[in-house]
Amino acid sequence: MILTGAGISAESGLKTFRESGGLWEEYDIMDVATPEGWLNNRELVLRFYNERRRQLDTVVPNEAHKAILLLYKHFDVDIITQNVDDLHERAGSTKVMHLHGELRKARSEKYPNLVYDIGTKDINNEDTCERGEQLRPDIVWFGEDVPLIPLAAAIVSKADILIVIGTSLNVYPAAGLLYNAPYECRKYLVDPNDSINNVFNLEHIKAKAGTAMPVLVERLIKERLEVRS
Ligand code: OAD
Repeated sequence: MILTGAGISAESGLKTFRESGGLWEEYDIMDVATPEGWLNNRELVLRFYNERRRQLDTVVPNEAHKAILLLYKHFDVDIITQNVDDLHERAGSTKVMHLHGELRKARSEKYPNLVYDIGTKDINNEDTCERGEQLRPDIVWFGEDVPLIPLAAAIVSKADILIVIGTSLNVYPAAGLLYNAPYECRKYLVDPNDSINNVFNLEHIKAKAGTAMPVLVERLIKERLEVRS
């Protein structure tokens, strides 16, 4: 089970949120990532996410995204990501759950089940769904429900190995998922900075994901092959 945050995409060139130089230093969360922001200034919100979406065309998966792929041959891998980029999928990963939505999708403001794959195209003011209602980014904003949380918690509760990569674990309910893992589950945190320290059976690998993940993946595969032989 792999839980990722913005840090895994940092070495691809996508900014994280809370670090120095991160997106929340440049923009006010309330303006661009809340239902209130959308009501106050829809143009600004659309511009913010249009920029993020266009940026997807300029970045590629890094060594961390790619290393995860090697695990599939030996483990039953589930990825739960807080990221709205598509770098896990573009690296070839399957079973990727996007807790906070996806940049490549738009949805109807009024009918949340009307969701459209828009690739890296812009959403403009007055772009509408098939029922004539405004389209918005298919992103979970602060103050909104995270509908996939129960499913994510059920997956984490069955994990034998949990790898948490590049997240400050500041945003709930996603950050709380870690505590759904079984007590004896082996846990790894791959992040150059501290974010948690009170979790049983956790090894903190204090390094960037692009360097640490290929090494960790090789180690896990080697251990698994040893157990089987
Ligand atoms: P944050 O910006 O809060 O945290 C990024 C984490 O990545 C930090 O702990 C960094 O130390 C770490 N990091 C930076 N570079 C790294 C690297 N090369 N390798 C590994 N780790 C690295 O981002 P998230 O925790 O993902 O939600 O933020 C969670 C949510 O808050 C996001 O999904 C977003 C945001 O507001 C919404 O917009 C709804």
